Amino acid sequence: MTEDVPHHSPADRSIPPAGALVLEVGALDRPLDLDALFGRQAPVELEIGIGSGFFLSRYALERPDLNLLGLDHMGSEVYRTADKCVRLGLAHVRVVRCDAVYFLETFVRTGSVAACHVYYSDPWPKRRHHKRRLWRPAFVAQVARVLAPGGSLLLKTDVTEYFEVIDAVVRGHGGLELAEDRRLDLDPMPGDIESNFQGKAVAAGHPLHYQRWVRRAEG
Ligand SMILES: C[S@@+](CC[C@H](N)C(=O)[O-])C[C@H]1O[C@@H](n2cnc3c(N)ncnc32)[C@H](O)[C@@H]1O
Repeated sequence: MTEDVPHHSPADRSIPPAGALVLEVGALDRPLDLDALFGRQAPVELEIGIGSGFFLSRYALERPDLNLLGLDHMGSEVYRTADKCVRLGLAHVRVVRCDAVYFLETFVRTGSVAACHVYYSDPWPKRRHHKRRLWRPAFVAQVARVLAPGGSLLLKTDVTEYFEVIDAVVRGHGGLELAEDRRLDLDPMPGDIESNFQGKAVAAGHPLHYQRWVRRAEG
């Protein structure tokens, strides 16, 4: 899969440098004023674990009506994503290098987010590494807290054992209701936007598990 995106001429001064889209956690208000951060009012969606920004940049092209905030704990991924978004002229994206649980807990107001996208989280297959996995009760509790009632948690993974863990941990929270549960490799979803890791999973012939959960009004 190619990661090529259109280039703007360096003479195009309306496109900000990549750093303009990158938030520095030390400079952020706690909690964040999301409207002020984007300079406009619009529904906010988060992508957690953006990797190289393959999904986020394409989703942003399709959804100029949203304010999109991407998180990753690797600085190199944050800058790669910002660079893609700048080259695409996307002014409604911000990215931040931070641990996901810490970021949600510290900066994001309860009920302020319309959707959270979490795709192909590292499965850490060795048992002794399971403690490094993102999908833990503390993570789901933060996702459920920041979602507005009726907001969506969208997740994908190509690792069936991890999918079962994720399903159990989300179900165990109790505040989210399963709205869609689908094997994308057997039953593709119209308009699905692949992430970088989804492309690799397709090429390897892996199962593609997808779920969408909706935040209940209570719980
Ligand atoms: C396997 S990659 C998937 C990237 C992308 N979602 C995709 O589907 O192509 C997982 C990403 O999640 C990030 N990540 C893992 N744990 C994280 C955490 N606790 N907080 C923030 N980012 C995290 C990693 O740095 C990595 O970029």
